[in-house]
Amino acid sequence: MRKIFVCGNWKMNTDRAAAVELAVGTGAVAEGIEKVEVGACPPFVYLLPVAEALAGSNVALGAQNMYFEAKGAFTGEISAGMLLDVGCRYAIVGHSERRHVIGESDELINRKLRAAIAAGLGPILCVGELLKEREAGETEAVVSRHVTEGLKGVSAEDAACVVVAYEPVWAIGTGKTATPDQAEDVHKFIRGVLAGLYDDKTAAAVRIQYGGSVKPENAYELMSRPDIDGALVGGASLKADSFGEIIREAVRVCG
Ligand code: 13P
Repeated sequence: MRKIFVCGNWKMNTDRAAAVELAVGTGAVAEGIEKVEVGACPPFVYLLPVAEALAGSNVALGAQNMYFEAKGAFTGEISAGMLLDVGCRYAIVGHSERRHVIGESDELINRKLRAAIAAGLGPILCVGELLKEREAGETEAVVSRHVTEGLKGVSAEDAACVVVAYEPVWAIGTGKTATPDQAEDVHKFIRGVLAGLYDDKTAAAVRIQYGGSVKPENAYELMSRPDIDGALVGGASLKADSFGEIIREAVRVCG
């Protein structure tokens, strides 16, 4: 049984005081929640104060990115070991903003994902198509490439612990959510890709989050679909109240 995972991606938002306040609020809204896993990914520089603010809570700490090398002359980069050292359990890899704004390739993302696994961090592998790709009927080809290239060289046992986040780029920060049917179609397709790469058991174990304008009003409908195992939440995770409502909707999905 896959445990629903609701994770906030704070992106390049907050300052130190706001990050700590949001962490305290997030810890509070997640208190006592056992059926759903909750996570938060603050900016790198606030990981430590956020980790301290989340101590004793049941919110897992995650990073928004990482580099694949363990250490050395890589100015500006952060390793998986460093992230573990400050209390991270997860690292997002391949977010669309890194693919399309920073220019990361599938190959780089795969190296990061493998380094995360090797270090003992849980990767959240983001995949998803641009609007023009959807309109050209290329959604499945793009998502299949992101999943296949992202997981290259990863064993079935390790793949089962990867979280995939389907985030259609046209739905990110636009207020334009994929309909539950549109999202479920792609999630089901991703599970099929995983079954082809590995086997049915592995495909059934991988959690696939949806991301893209998730808010309290659409969270239940999305997460109640059979292949949607949670949400990666941007804007609505920046307020503990709205994030808390999304968590409560996830709990309601669990029945
Ligand atoms: P929004 O929820 O702001 O659309 O962002 C989604 C996202 O990119 C999460 O990683």
